[in-house]
Amino acid sequence: MLKEIFIGLSTNQMLTAAAKKYGLKLGAQNVVAGTNVEETIKSIRELNALGISCTVDNLGEFVFEREEALKAKDSILEVIEAIHENGVDAHISLKPTQIGLDIDYDFCYENLKEIVAAASKYDMHINLDMEDYGHVQPSYDLLETLLEEYSNVGTVIQSYFYRAQEDIEKHKDLRLRIVKGAYKEPVEYAYQTREEIDANFVQLIEYHLLNGKFTSIATHDHNIINHVIDFVEEHNISREKFEFQMLYGFRKDMQVDLAKRGYKFCTYVPFGDDWYGYFMRRLAERPQNLNLVIKQVFNK
Ligand code: FDA
Repeated sequence: MLKEIFIGLSTNQMLTAAAKKYGLKLGAQNVVAGTNVEETIKSIRELNALGISCTVDNLGEFVFEREEALKAKDSILEVIEAIHENGVDAHISLKPTQIGLDIDYDFCYENLKEIVAAASKYDMHINLDMEDYGHVQPSYDLLETLLEEYSNVGTVIQSYFYRAQEDIEKHKDLRLRIVKGAYKEPVEYAYQTREEIDANFVQLIEYHLLNGKFTSIATHDHNIINHVIDFVEEHNISREKFEFQMLYGFRKDMQVDLAKRGYKFCTYVPFGDDWYGYFMRRLAERPQNLNLVIKQVFNK
């Protein structure tokens, strides 16, 4: 029930606009690294000092104006330069709808190509985040066209989709992030129960660890993480072939602990003023995160 409320709130355009205007509020500052590039580079340096690399997400999604999409593209290009100039260990995650997928496919492709080309100069990886079902196939189409020219690009497999096994087999030669899936999807396309999603998640992770190029296991779920640790040991899989990923501000102790134990670890670092939809989806996944909000409201 709460999940549905927060997912509904995540796409509310009026609240999104208000959030941009009034800055990081409601506890969002605990899970968003900053509102500008300087603050974000500082957060990345702090994580790098703990042996953690970063994937940087310039917050924004479901953009319907060309001007806004071009602004997002320019901000991402700025971050790529800042990562390079500051010599920090980080790459980029981006959402195709942020750079125009809902406006025009070719326009989005041109924006994406410019970003991937800029990053390729520095051998920097670009991850295409996966959004809701309606955007999944166009995102794969973008990816496949890019792969004709560039190799510094990968994507996400969402385990709740029935199509996930087919997608992972098709893209096994790529660096892939595997997740459970964050959006509300209908039964026609997606598993609905926690048990089914978890079972498919584990199956996909194992498949890519055994057959794929590089696997980013993105979860805060300690049961899955412990299972992966046992699985890689049992199958003698090198620690160079995979990493764990978590979101900035979540399970910080576990992030540091895994890095200390010698596992590759990458934190997803969101930044910018368009934090509202991202933040609401995190509340939908884990209403306990409301504690962050409550603490914030009563501390201030
Ligand atoms: P889940 O929320 O299912 O929790 C499982 C269990 O883990 C809980 O019952 C609890 O015991 C424990 N737990 C979880 N969070 C905890 C916390 N904060 N503190 C203590 N215990 C906790 N989705 C998508 O659709 N497209 C995408 O591109 C991405 N990208 C992405 C990148 C990264 C780095 C991450 C971590 C996640 C994504 N996601 C995503 C989101 C993903 O699909 C999923 O919605 C969330 O990660 C929530 O699922 P989890 O696997 O983390 O655990």
